Amino acid sequence: SFYVNFMQEGRWKYLTNGFLVTVEVSFFSVLLGILVGFVVAVIRATHDKTGNLRFLNALCKLYLTVIRGTPVVVQLLMIYFVIFGSVDVSKVLVAVVAFGFNSGAYVAEIIRGGIMSIDKGQFEAGRSLGLGYAQTMIYIILPQAFKNVLPSLGNEFIVLLKETSVSGYIALQDLTKGGDIIRSQTYTAFMPLTAVALIYLSVVMLFSWMLGKLERKLKNNE
Ligand code: ARG
Repeated sequence: SFYVNFMQEGRWKYLTNGFLVTVEVSFFSVLLGILVGFVVAVIRATHDKTGNLRFLNALCKLYLTVIRGTPVVVQLLMIYFVIFGSVDVSKVLVAVVAFGFNSGAYVAEIIRGGIMSIDKGQFEAGRSLGLGYAQTMIYIILPQAFKNVLPSLGNEFIVLLKETSVSGYIALQDLTKGGDIIRSQTYTAFMPLTAVALIYLSVVMLFSWMLGKLERKLKNNE
């Protein structure tokens, strides 16, 4: 039966190893995405508020347009075959770069929204206390903005976890690819693909539940 075959031939390892790859890629991508998104958001907000950083702001806008205007799987393929085409790098690293820079574009808008949602009285308060622009940003605006966008950033991890399922396009053996390999070796589609779906679903449900708790906690100590 499928089950005996699955256990005795050790095929379940495609799922466990694949799952670890999926978690690894998602985790590092969300970190890179937050870093990139944060930098882009601060540049954009600074330009909006002061008119400075015109060139960097234009560069950020180009980045946002291109990344959000093209499919992530095309970006992944281009980073693998064009940008790293002639060098030997790990596929996990390629995936983290691709999904991280993709995520950064979406995170930038999340964080920019967070910065814009802080009452401008907060800004004026900082300035009237004698703080400079950068200090007001760092000590007054960004901490409040960051707290407000924390749930959205958690949500970004969930999006990424599912998004990394296209990693098989560069033959990276993530969870989805692992299930698909089992499908092709056993000529059985239902069991391996359902297992893959249930694993994603479990992680997403667990993480959503944790996020809900965090959100309530943040609301309670406003
Ligand atoms: N599925 C979209 C695409 O193919 C990418 C969405 C990524 N979204 C995000 N929040 N990271 O381009």
